[in-house]
Amino acid sequence: MKLNFSFQNLLSVPDADTGISLRDFENALPEAEKAYKKFLQEVASNELGFYYLPDFDTKKITNFVNEASKEYDTMVVLGIGGSALGSRAVYDALKTTKSLINKILVCDNVDPIQLYEILEQIELKRTLFNVITKSGGTAETMSQFLIIHKILRDAYQADYRKHLIITTDAEKGFMRRVTEWENLPSFTVPDNVGGRFSVLTDVSLVPLAFAGVNINGLLKGAGAMRERCNTTDFMKNPAMMLALSHVLLFRKGYNISVMMPYSNTLVNLADWYRQLWGESLGKKLDNDGKVIRTGQTPAKSLGTTDQHSQVQLYVEGPHDKIVTFLRVEEFKYDYTIPNVYPDELSTNFLADCKLSELLNTEQLATEIALTDAGCPNCTITFPALDEYHLGEFIYLFEMATVLAGYLLNIDPLNQPGVEAGKIATYALMGHPKYTEHQQKVKKYKQERNAEYII
Ligand code: PA5
Repeated sequence: MKLNFSFQNLLSVPDADTGISLRDFENALPEAEKAYKKFLQEVASNELGFYYLPDFDTKKITNFVNEASKEYDTMVVLGIGGSALGSRAVYDALKTTKSLINKILVCDNVDPIQLYEILEQIELKRTLFNVITKSGGTAETMSQFLIIHKILRDAYQADYRKHLIITTDAEKGFMRRVTEWENLPSFTVPDNVGGRFSVLTDVSLVPLAFAGVNINGLLKGAGAMRERCNTTDFMKNPAMMLALSHVLLFRKGYNISVMMPYSNTLVNLADWYRQLWGESLGKKLDNDGKVIRTGQTPAKSLGTTDQHSQVQLYVEGPHDKIVTFLRVEEFKYDYTIPNVYPDELSTNFLADCKLSELLNTEQLATEIALTDAGCPNCTITFPALDEYHLGEFIYLFEMATVLAGYLLNIDPLNQPGVEAGKIATYALMGHPKYTEHQQKVKKYKQERNAEYII
C-alpha cells in the first residue's frame, strides 16, 4: 500500500471567490511544465543531490553501526536545523517500534537546560556523540561540541575519541579539519545536498541506523515516490499537485500552510516540514534579482489536541490557510473504549470503539468542517507508520518544495536570511573574521533607545 494523497479539497472548496478550481489548475499547466523541465535540468546537472539519494549505498553506515551498537546504546546528535530535524522526525515517528534497539537524543539548541537534561539521561560510557554540521562551523553546534569534548576528555583522556563521530562536508570546514587533527571517525554531507534536504544522507541515516531503523526501507520508499513523481501527467504527480496547488492558493492570499498530523508521533515530521517549506520558499529576491519578498508561512498543529485550540481560527478566521492533514490508518498499539456506563447516553456512543477509530473520525470531522467553511485542505494518509511510508513522505515534500520554488521563480536551495543571522551572532560574539560586522552590531546596541524599554 502506498502513501495516499487526497487533494480534492484543494481544488473545489465552496468558496469559489477565494479558492482555486480544477480549471485554475489546468490553466496553470504550462507554468507547471516549465517548472518540471527546470527540475529535470537541475537533476541532470547534478544540482539536486536529493534526487539521487534513494540509490544511496548504506554499507558503510551499516558496518559502522553494527560495531558501535556493541559498545553504545545511546547516540546524542549535536546539530541544528537540517542537521537535526530529520533525525528527530523519523525517530519520533518510529520510536515505539519494537526493533529499535538504541536511543537517539537530539541536542539542537544552546539552551543550557536542554543540554543538562540530555546529560542527566545518558550513561556517558554507553554514549556516542555525533557532531553534525554541513558547514562545519555553526556557532550552536560548535559550542555544544566544545563542551562535550571537554566532558569526554575529562572522563576518558585520550580515549575521548571513542565517543565522538563527525558528520560534515567531505573536504571543507573546521569540523573536517578536526576529524583529521584528532583522527576521528567521520561521515559526509554531500556537497550538492543542502542541510534541510539531507535527511536521506549520512546526516540522519547514521543516527537512525544506530537506533535500529531500517534505513534501506526509508530509501526504498523514497525511490518509489521518485518514480510516482516522474510524470508530466500532473494530476497523477503528487509532488507537482502539492506544489502547484499551494502556489496557486498562495497567490490568492493563502499565506499560511498548516500541517496537522493526527498522531503525536508525527509532530516532529511537521517540524521538519516547517523548516523545509519556510527556509526554501521564504525569499526576498527572485531569480532575476527583483525584490519580491515571497514565501508561504508553514505552521504545525496537532489533531485532535489543537481542535480545541486552533480549529476555531481555521474555520472562522481569515481565508489565508491551507491545511494538510496527516492521517495514519493502522496504529501499532490501540485501545478499545469500554462500555462502563451502558445506560448513559453521554458516553455509550463511544463504547467498543477503538481509540484510533475515534482519532481518525475526528480528522474526517475536522476536514468536513474546514471544507464547509471554505478552507482548502488535503489529506496524506500513511497506511502504516513505517520506514517505507516515511521515505515516500520525505521525498514527496522535498520534490514539492523545489517545484514550488521554481513556480515562484526563486532559488529554493539557498538561505541568505539564515546566513545573515549566523553572521550577526559571530559579530556579537567577537569572531575575529567578522570585524566589519562588529561595527554594525556595536552601533545597533548603542543606538537602542532606553525610552522604549519599560
Ligand atoms: O538547511 C540549512 O542549510 C540550514 O538550516 C542548516 O541545516 C542549519 O543552519 C545548520 O547548518 P550546519 O549543518 O551547516 O551546521
